[in-house]
Amino acid sequence: MQKNIAVIRGDGIGPEIVAEAIGVLDAVAEKFGHDFRFAEVSMGGDAIDKFGEPLPDAELQKCKESDSVLLGAVGGPKWDGVEAHLRPEKGLLKLRQGLGVYSNNRPAKIWPQLKDASPLKPSITEKGIDYIIVRELIGGIYFGKHETVGDTAVDEMRYSEDEIERIGRIGFETARKRRGMLCSVEKSNVLDTSRLWKKVMCRLSAEYPDVTLSHMLVDNCAMQIVKDPSQFDVIVTENMFGDILSDEASQITGSIGMIPSSSLGDSPCGLYEPIHGSAPDIAGLDMANPIGTILSAAMMLRYSFDMEKEAEAIEKAVDAVLSEGWRTADIMPEDKTGCTQIGCREMGKRIREMIK
Ligand code: IPM
Ligand code: MG
Repeated sequence: MQKNIAVIRGDGIGPEIVAEAIGVLDAVAEKFGHDFRFAEVSMGGDAIDKFGEPLPDAELQKCKESDSVLLGAVGGPKWDGVEAHLRPEKGLLKLRQGLGVYSNNRPAKIWPQLKDASPLKPSITEKGIDYIIVRELIGGIYFGKHETVGDTAVDEMRYSEDEIERIGRIGFETARKRRGMLCSVEKSNVLDTSRLWKKVMCRLSAEYPDVTLSHMLVDNCAMQIVKDPSQFDVIVTENMFGDILSDEASQITGSIGMIPSSSLGDSPCGLYEPIHGSAPDIAGLDMANPIGTILSAAMMLRYSFDMEKEAEAIEKAVDAVLSEGWRTADIMPEDKTGCTQIGCREMGKRIREMIK
């Protein structure tokens, strides 16, 4: 099958991790007889340097015309001084909105090989960690009016019933394919948007009798994620709560460097990116963990291209390389037993070779 993939290498460690993911996709293409074509798109700090804005319309257009988008990471201290509306992150928000990808899917699972990397006690991790955060991605406070007048700043948070319903359905459908438990997370003791959120989730729940819906306040959820993460199957939540909880969720699995994500809307064209940032402190040092990006590429194959066995080939290769004891710095155990530390390039190469 021929697929056109828009590639955004971005800033910091972005180019290094994306190079390894492309290498893995090439290995999959060779093995399974596909033809993946890559089109380079500039976004973030890279685009600010080249075009003076974080995502020019022509670059966004290339993404819209592709079958899916693979992204590394954007941002860094170099662009801290630029005006708010020109920040690298604005490029990412414009891309998500332009592609209409309202549903961001962030899995948190503990790899048995990495259970010692979790900061949680074994008595907690033993019970297993395997859940998904379904985050609303193109609404809420991220896309409300932002304004600073004199000494006062305003960020507006808005949700309509339709926006809540479409993400709510993704939550229910995701839970239906898993263990059938959906936890809706909000702050309905304080926020109107959260009360509306809860009302819509309750209404939808009648259509999904096979899914058990529960409700949790976001502050309690932050606590439960470290106290007993095994209780969660699928969490559905609004944009900013999902941003915060997914960083917390990833860290308890060992390293944020391991977590992929998919962002989808109503078309098969999705956006796939690791959930971590551009890590400028280790950029160019061949130290980054490319696995989050490589697993994002696997998600692209599964969810946008319907290539299940190809996606599994990547996931099994990652699993096998970890089982052999190869580790990037972020997932290296303190006592180093049975493990060898390798760089970003070698990690990519070992995963590629495992696929072949
Ligand atoms: C993420 C990131 C982004 C977000 C930033 C870079 C705008 O933190 O993907 O989680 O807040 O959505
Ligand atoms: Mg984030």
